[in-house]
Amino acid sequence: MRVLSVVGARPQFVKLAPIHHALVAAGHQHIIVHTGQHYDRDMSDIFFEDLGIPHPDENLAVGSAAHGRQTAAMLELLEESFLRHTPDWVLVYGDTNSTLAASIAAVKIHQRLAHLEAGLRSFNRQMPEEHNRVLTDHAADLLLAPTDVAAQHLATEGLSGRTVVVGDVMTDVCYSTRDRVQQSAPKMPNGWNVEGEYVVSTIHRQENTDDAQRLSKILAYLAASTVPVRLLAHPRLKAKAEEFGLQLTQGNISVFDPLSYPQLMHAVLNAKGVVTDSGGLQKEAFLLRTPCITVRTETEWVETVTLGWNVLDAECVLTIDEVLNKSYAKPTEHPYGMGIAAARAVRAMEEALVHG
Ligand code: UD1
Repeated sequence: MRVLSVVGARPQFVKLAPIHHALVAAGHQHIIVHTGQHYDRDMSDIFFEDLGIPHPDENLAVGSAAHGRQTAAMLELLEESFLRHTPDWVLVYGDTNSTLAASIAAVKIHQRLAHLEAGLRSFNRQMPEEHNRVLTDHAADLLLAPTDVAAQHLATEGLSGRTVVVGDVMTDVCYSTRDRVQQSAPKMPNGWNVEGEYVVSTIHRQENTDDAQRLSKILAYLAASTVPVRLLAHPRLKAKAEEFGLQLTQGNISVFDPLSYPQLMHAVLNAKGVVTDSGGLQKEAFLLRTPCITVRTETEWVETVTLGWNVLDAECVLTIDEVLNKSYAKPTEHPYGMGIAAARAVRAMEEALVHG
């Protein structure tokens, strides 16, 4: 079986790692096409190096642009790429503009399309990611759902016939990296104090960064924490703070560049808590048993909230210290699987190829 993966943004490189290893282990051919949506070294190359993924077969180098322009540039180049490689499956990941562009390109030329992380919904139509994932699910031939809740969303939309629940591939890579960093701690960036309590924070979503008042409120909230906050600043956050004349370093905040994946796992494992608007990080905090505050009105990963380890606080009204000082019961459930989702996703693609 020949699978062509399309990736472009940081969380997709993380999901690509277990899929690549599972495809190779099963003796399949894997072609990797990088759209170039993310291009800074610490947003892209470092993930390939740390997670043992080979260099992409192609990098389309589209770079940053407004949604329409960026998606259109990818769409045009991806069509040519699919025609060159004629894979058995185009595999797309998550909900970024790279995901949507690849989905449209594939179905237009009747190319078989599988969507990994299908069925997640925030029901927030202001989020660009919500459109990307809904449109991709309706285009795809095979929907690889991470959870039962995701499969229920797909069933509600009439898509249960194409759905297979495989578990969450980020759990695979999170657990294996956790084990690695527990054996041998990664070198942390300059200025990272290994002693003492701290909170890890990331804020990058358009709805939080692109309005000056909202961003100012979130920064003031972080700055007021009595536990020191280590803010891992995404390029969008840096650019927007500069544009609005806002200081990232204020109060109890210290600023770091984005971390590599092993560094991030190490940081979260040893943190008192996480404050984030990232989908991936709230789930990783749950898997690593670190309490989390999510600065959004809703989450796609509802299990983290119902099992008590994640609290939604879009308006920044809860005190960080109070939330983190609560007592947390270790859940016995494993809503995201046991770390074998990638192998199950590969099997689902093999079976769907045979049967249809
Ligand atoms: C994208 C995804 C989002 C995902 C996030 C992970 C979409 C619509 N959004 O958001 O779902 O959670 O990736 O990080 O696809 N930039 C750089 N260097 C880079 C990449 C980006 O400086 O390597 C800057 C540019 O100013 C760019 C901005 O960040 O305009 C935003 O990048 P973009 O890829 O458009 O969206 P993200 O916010 O990263």
